[in-house]
Amino acid sequence: MSDQRIPEDFFSARVGRITVSPSNAGAQRVRELRALGRDIIGLTIGEPDFETPSHVKQAATEAMAREETKYTNVDGTPELKEAIRAKFKRENGLEYAPEQILASNGGKQVIYNAIMATVSAGDEVIIPAPYWVSYLDIPLLADGTPVPVVCRPEDGFKLTPGALEAAITPRTKWLVLNSPCNPTGAVYTPAELKALAEVLLRHPRVWVIADDIYEHLVFDGVEFATIAQIEPELHDRTLTVNGVAKTYAMTGWRIGYGGGPVELIGNMKKVQSQSTTCPSSIGQAAAVRALNGPQDFVPGRARAFQERRDRVLELLREAPGIECVRPQGAFYIFANCAGTLGKRTPQGVTLEAERDAVDYLLDIGGVAVVVGAAYGLSPYFRMSIAASMDELTEACLRIRRAVAALK
Ligand SMILES: Cc1ncc(COP(=O)(O)O)c(C=O)c1O
Repeated sequence: MSDQRIPEDFFSARVGRITVSPSNAGAQRVRELRALGRDIIGLTIGEPDFETPSHVKQAATEAMAREETKYTNVDGTPELKEAIRAKFKRENGLEYAPEQILASNGGKQVIYNAIMATVSAGDEVIIPAPYWVSYLDIPLLADGTPVPVVCRPEDGFKLTPGALEAAITPRTKWLVLNSPCNPTGAVYTPAELKALAEVLLRHPRVWVIADDIYEHLVFDGVEFATIAQIEPELHDRTLTVNGVAKTYAMTGWRIGYGGGPVELIGNMKKVQSQSTTCPSSIGQAAAVRALNGPQDFVPGRARAFQERRDRVLELLREAPGIECVRPQGAFYIFANCAGTLGKRTPQGVTLEAERDAVDYLLDIGGVAVVVGAAYGLSPYFRMSIAASMDELTEACLRIRRAVAALK
């Protein structure tokens, strides 16, 4: 290896502004510690632990046998776009023409394409916090300005119409709404969406990204709704984003999709054509089967997450210093750890900040979670419940023991 130093200005200012996804970094740390022989329960990653359904895997095998292993149209195969249109109509009451649909390598690339296609230096993107970290970093890559708006636990971590109104400026380009929310599990009711829509109707330059990727993972019978459906007047300035990753346990297949105005989708397609060309042909064939195939197993998976949520909340109720917010969807627990701060560990270290608490849970408790700061709110941590009931139970008992040992 050459020891030639790379000059600091070799790397772009834009890459200097972003971070490696903290949940990916957390998962990497878990792998490193396990390689050293440590017994670690890793609850950092946002990935269902279920299997991709067998009929979906079969569709991929069939596609390969048919030699569907080549580039496809930039915006997706006609079959996939048709399946997406049918899904939007069937499940969300949203009608799109084929040229209003874009399939990408994951919901993340849909959002990336949209921001790259629309955001210039100084343009603002309103992001209710706690947020999924990419909402912040993607606008930063586009030289834009993310505007996090902290939502209070007493408002269920949801953006209020007043807070939205106050955050809008002449430079606001987008509002990003994520329901069910990663990391809080908050789900906006139709009435709450309507109230936000009323604000947006007064600001016709502001567009909306509705990230519905956790749509089917809702608990306690709560009703899922999306803003373009609730307020049809916003249909012409809303990008509705979804994907197969979470509903069908297909994170590695990398298929997400968006529906929106023709000009927006056309410009997003341009960005995609110059980055990844198209989504994987085999992934697309699998996604067609996932969307068009039986959906009857989906509620059972949501119920499994609900049972895990209930178990974790019950066990962590006995964890002094930790307060959990009750998620209504998705598969995370966002826990306040303020009550552990200022206390001393048996090793004689004082937990000064959230990072210390999370490191303590990892080093002493053997449980890996992600700091709340990564999602724009401290002192909290995010714990994924996409793990077996046994693992979750053991993780909660370890957390309980670790925090009970604090003085
Ligand atoms: C809120 C949210 N949106 C989008 C995504 C991206 O999903 P995909 O795997 O389809 O890119 C994730 C993944 O963690 C997410 O949590």
